[in-house]
Amino acid sequence: MGAEVVIEGLTKSFGKQAIWRDVTLNLPPGEVSVMLGPSGTGKSVFLKSMIGLLKPDKGSCVINGTDIVTCSERQLYETRKLFGVLFQDGALFGSMNLYDNVAFPLREHTKKSETEIRNIVLDKLDMTGLAGADDKLPGEISGGMRKRAGLARALVLDPEIILCDEPDSGLDPVRTAYLSQLLIDLNAQIDATILIVTHNINLARTVPDNLGMLFRKELVMFGPREVLLTSDEPVVEQFLNGRRLGPIGMSEEKDSAQMALEQAMADGGHHDGSTEDVRGIVPQLQPTPGLPVRQGAVRRKDRVVQILHTLPAAAQEGIIASLSPEERRHYGIPEPSVTAGSTLPPHRGNLPTDDVANLPTDQQWPADQGGQTRRMPPQRGGR
Ligand SMILES: Nc1ncnc2c1ncn2[C@@H]1O[C@H](COP(=O)(O)OP(=O)(O)OP(=O)(O)O)[C@@H](O)[C@H]1O
Ligand SMILES: [Mg+2]
Repeated sequence: MGAEVVIEGLTKSFGKQAIWRDVTLNLPPGEVSVMLGPSGTGKSVFLKSMIGLLKPDKGSCVINGTDIVTCSERQLYETRKLFGVLFQDGALFGSMNLYDNVAFPLREHTKKSETEIRNIVLDKLDMTGLAGADDKLPGEISGGMRKRAGLARALVLDPEIILCDEPDSGLDPVRTAYLSQLLIDLNAQIDATILIVTHNINLARTVPDNLGMLFRKELVMFGPREVLLTSDEPVVEQFLNGRRLGPIGMSEEKDSAQMALEQAMADGGHHDGSTEDVRGIVPQLQPTPGLPVRQGAVRRKDRVVQILHTLPAAAQEGIIASLSPEERRHYGIPEPSVTAGSTLPPHRGNLPTDDVANLPTDQQWPADQGGQTRRMPPQRGGR
């Protein structure tokens, strides 16, 4: 089972430039999470902070009992071995063929024999659909193959946690769909905890168990996929629909005058360039038939059912609808009415904490914050 990552109050700046502050979230063991955010919001910095390549100013990031923010160099070195990382630029060695690229971490970090290394490398190349490409140089293959080679290399040390920085960048939609399936299949096979940074709406909507979003130097939200996919938080909704209309601007956030102007244009029927409104919960990708059941998804069911009553109504509905009748019986959840979902008005901004009477006490609610939903204070004039 993958390791849990518990991040609390993580804050990072470079000199006077604040990148993000007070980021708190859990990556539940073996679950797949996606972090969204406009360019420059510090997503890559976040991943690098998680593996101790960059040092956060404040907060903690605890993995198997070690806080990588405060631990010794020795502990950091040990903890890093739990990670497999696919960097944004792939970071393959241009002069090495794929075999040697993928073998590199094994030769660096283990005392395995070349025969053992060979078995592992060929297995990972096979898992990532690169069987037979072992003697190719990175410069001789397509961008999609380079991404998969980076992924194969991230897998060789049997990571408990896999970080992927924009695994889809530069790929066409078909290759991105294959890559999405590959990530889910890998998760089914190795049960590692996975965090993917991406701009890709389709990947974000179909792959992860949990979604988060960084914007304006804050973690706007992090929680079960159903929460963000049904959210009417302006930033989240704008991003998941690829719209111009909303708080996210060309280079940075927009000012309120610009937002008001665009709102007026939209009210006048001016099309804002988004393709279609795809808001709502779409089915999550399942492992290719024949592969094991995703254990992370099995554990997640228990987890989200426990926090169900703390989630917004639309997310609750989505989660209940995703359970089978047997599972609903098992959890003692009544069958949804036939008309639910189609006739209910869209969820309008009720915080999970609206339902204060139903909030569990600390005793009932163990240290599981993975499903906890965070959001910024409501913003005015967003839509
Ligand atoms: N080592 C560094 N030293 C100083 N500033 C840095 C460093 N690394 C990143 N930054 C700054 O931190 C900010 C966030 O960068 P980051 O690369 O994390 O963004 P991102 O969200 O990954 O963007 P993109 O989606 O374009 O990849 C940028 O302003 C960048 O210039
Ligand atoms: Mg980046």
